[in-house]
Amino acid sequence: LLIDASEGSGRRIPDTLFGIFFEEINHAGTGGLWAELVSNRGFEAGGANIPSNIDPWSIIGDESSLIVSTDRSSCFERNKVALRMEVLCDSEGAHICPSGGVGIYNPGFWGMNIEQGKSYKVVFYVRSTGAIDMSVSFTDSNGFSTLASANIIASASDVSNWTKMEVILEAKSTNHNSRLQLTTTKKGVVWFDQVSAMPLDTYKGHGFRKDLVDMLTRIKPRFLRFPGGCFVEGEWLRNAFRWKESIGPWEERPGHFGDVWMYWTDDGLGYFEFLQLADDLDALPIWVFNNGISHNDQVDTSSILPFVQEALDGLEFARGDLNSKWGAVRAAMGHPEPFDLRYVAIGNEDCGKKNYRGNYLKFYDAIRRAYPDIKMITNCDGSSRPLDHPADMYDFHIYTSASNLFSMTHQFDHTSRNGPKAFVSEYAVTGKDAGTGSLLAALAEAGFLIGLEKNSDIVQMASYAPLFVNTNDRRWNPDAIVFNSSQHYGTPSYWVQHFFAESSGATLLNAALETNSSSLVASAITWKNSEGQSYIRIKIVNFGSTSVNLKISVSGLDPNSVELSGSTKTILTSANVMDENSFKEPEKIAPIQTLLESADKEMAVQVLPHSFTSFDLLK
Ligand code: AHR
Repeated sequence: LLIDASEGSGRRIPDTLFGIFFEEINHAGTGGLWAELVSNRGFEAGGANIPSNIDPWSIIGDESSLIVSTDRSSCFERNKVALRMEVLCDSEGAHICPSGGVGIYNPGFWGMNIEQGKSYKVVFYVRSTGAIDMSVSFTDSNGFSTLASANIIASASDVSNWTKMEVILEAKSTNHNSRLQLTTTKKGVVWFDQVSAMPLDTYKGHGFRKDLVDMLTRIKPRFLRFPGGCFVEGEWLRNAFRWKESIGPWEERPGHFGDVWMYWTDDGLGYFEFLQLADDLDALPIWVFNNGISHNDQVDTSSILPFVQEALDGLEFARGDLNSKWGAVRAAMGHPEPFDLRYVAIGNEDCGKKNYRGNYLKFYDAIRRAYPDIKMITNCDGSSRPLDHPADMYDFHIYTSASNLFSMTHQFDHTSRNGPKAFVSEYAVTGKDAGTGSLLAALAEAGFLIGLEKNSDIVQMASYAPLFVNTNDRRWNPDAIVFNSSQHYGTPSYWVQHFFAESSGATLLNAALETNSSSLVASAITWKNSEGQSYIRIKIVNFGSTSVNLKISVSGLDPNSVELSGSTKTILTSANVMDENSFKEPEKIAPIQTLLESADKEMAVQVLPHSFTSFDLLK
């Protein structure tokens, strides 16, 4: 492997090359990254018609002691359904309530993670025909032991109209499978709406689950594509994600049923929160908006203007100043400064659909006129033939077998350098090679990514898909980060992305691999770390089942050597190529870094079978 490290011989890799694609799939956000613990907090998930299914809320007590129903008496205009609870028993008199009271509980998304010493903010809206005396508590999944509780007492006049109640609960013990209870021993009629429970300790106080964001920061994503995927399209347009329905005070958001991945979202994680997350990650937001096309229906180009206006309004929300209508709404939500939104994708996987081109051009022209700097991404692949419409970038999605993806290391070698840039916005090995996240899949992806790095004069951005899966709702296999209420781990595909964390903005060096093996691919970059130290990183994938002896030769070094101290070798491999990580063995397959025993501009190395290796040489 011959590497030319001479000053000026390399090529700068785009600052944006490696990022992440967040889709609301597999309960990635709702019941995942978004730290809200209550599922169906507004009682809307069962639909706007009453009576409705209040699932997963359940009743504590029997029909002789309470009657629970839904009505449309909420104070929130866009989500009118409220829960009505008629308590028939009392703390004294003929019909005494059971000890512990009667009421309702919410198990969250497959159990709430309540941890000892941590505080949780519980908010709910209540109305009553008389005085209230309620207990708000976190308990174990059966309601037997209490982890935290508080009493809410209010006079009849205080709660005769809808009133917001707020309480901080501090947990006395830990239970990863808890539930939230609202109980009483007081006779009367009480209505509840918008019941929320959030840990106080979220990422930057912005509502994101800390352990999951930490996984993201570790791979240093330079962009965040959101919020989907098919989630943006919907099976039907009426169920597609609409940004305007996802902003403003959380209590007032209507929520919606995502009919592709088949679950309800309260949309606490909305357009604003996605922009905020990008900001928090120091990643550029890439907003994918609905272009009037779902999986099963399409808006005719002659009627598309309202959708175009919706997209323009979304851009104004993100970037407009305080005097603009939507910029003022953003400011009222706590972000007076504009968000750094420079990229939008016009639809998702819609190229080839009847109205795509016509609709696309309407969006393109209007956005170009209003925001000349915004980069627009088309769904049509321009890698093999020129596009028939203007675009700054084109989407390229690939889900395939391991051998196929590995061989696609050369996919962009012959792509025309004249047209728009490529955005590999979704890639992954899928099918039996991948299982639920195998080493084999990860190695193929490593080979593919090395190809993208080498072709980063035309490939501007790349992101794996999907990013997250809550193990209780696997809609798609595999995924990069697996979690439940309290645990998480990265699949080998996640760890592969680690090897590329320094690549964006680095310099790609000329690296010539002289070998007959078609199982080996390699690249080399150089970059400076935060302390100003210069490194060369050589990455080698061995996709084959035999080890390979390789001579690495680095020329053009100034000074003419590498430093041993601080030079490292990192390997990702495992005994079996189909091995996976799990909650039991979260880092069975994870990079192992060791100090190099010898580091020089000439090195003889052995590359293990089925491995991904990087050498970081301190210059
Ligand atoms: O990543 C999962 C899905 O794959 C995305 O929603 C869609 O864009 C693609 O088909």
